[in-house]
Amino acid sequence: MKGDKSHKLCIAPMMDHTDRHFRFFMRLLSKHAFLYTEMVTTDALIHGDRERFLRFQSIEHPVALQLGGSKPDDLAKCCHFAEDAGYDEVNLNIGCPSDRVQNGQFGACLMSNPELVGECVYNMQKHVAIPVTVKTRIGIDDRDDFDFLFNFIDKVASAGCQSFIVHARIAILSGLSPKENREIPILNYARVYEIKNAFPHLNIIINGGLIKTDSVIEQMQHVDGVMIGRAAYQNPYWIAELDHKMFQERYELPTRKEIFRRYQEYMLEQSTQGIRLSNMSRHIIGLFQGQPGARKFRQYLSAGHPEIQKNSPELLEAAINSVSSVS
Ligand SMILES: Cc1cc2nc3c(=O)[nH]c(=O)nc-3n(C[C@H](O)[C@H](O)[C@H](O)COP(=O)(O)O)c2cc1C
Repeated sequence: MKGDKSHKLCIAPMMDHTDRHFRFFMRLLSKHAFLYTEMVTTDALIHGDRERFLRFQSIEHPVALQLGGSKPDDLAKCCHFAEDAGYDEVNLNIGCPSDRVQNGQFGACLMSNPELVGECVYNMQKHVAIPVTVKTRIGIDDRDDFDFLFNFIDKVASAGCQSFIVHARIAILSGLSPKENREIPILNYARVYEIKNAFPHLNIIINGGLIKTDSVIEQMQHVDGVMIGRAAYQNPYWIAELDHKMFQERYELPTRKEIFRRYQEYMLEQSTQGIRLSNMSRHIIGLFQGQPGARKFRQYLSAGHPEIQKNSPELLEAAINSVSSVS
């Protein structure tokens, strides 16, 4: 196994979730995780508020910008923006099944056009020194066979992509919502292992349904890394425990409360720059998951709470007091 250590643990790109505040929070939990932005389309980056889309803080490194698009020149331009902004990697989204994405001819539907994806990757990588990686599914619609995925990876790797994040499910392009497409198609981890065996020189990072430390450790017998999505959002403290276990470093595992205090400091500092507390507090509502008082903590910090709407910092103290018995 090649073992690109930087991708042993990755936190997935998630629209409306993995903004820079969430990524800051993740970094408090994990020293090592490779963090991914939400997907940004090439049109948004070229014609929209670029500075806002690209903004991140140095503590986030290593951090990748995820792009959605299928026009090789636009993608190349966006790679430049990412490199100039200081990102460590650009990731191309070939896994998203939403209608909006299909109309724009990008996302999972591009799995059926590996030549175009190869052209995109080639053009992107040619212009920047940072790595260009691809996040994909194991297939689309009725193409759930090994040959289809093999051919896709083979063509895109030949174009210059060395690292693939593979969500171990097919995407059904019509009839299922994006949410259903993360739940209904069955997980097929073995298919991802087959790909790793067929391409031992590539970095293969597995994604989909990982919520337990033991299963992550087991995955590491077969592939180079894991990417965690929903569980990082729903049960973020698990990421701290996982980092500690996977990297076996001799640092002390920070407690939930210590993480909270550091993020509280961050929230207060950011709020002096005009960021609303509710935009930041929403990311930590799962921090005490499974602990006494967790429900109250969650209620205090949810975006719908009337006090958080008033932007009052006292609410953060009320929230942490509701889990006073937890360390
Ligand atoms: C709310 C939400 C938003 C997502 N947005 C993106 C995205 O922008 N780009 C992407 O490649 N995948 C996106 N995904 C898919 C995740 O990156 C990941 O592949 C998927 O959730 C499976 O991993 P998990 O089972 O660990 O959650 C999103 C998932 C969720 C739950």
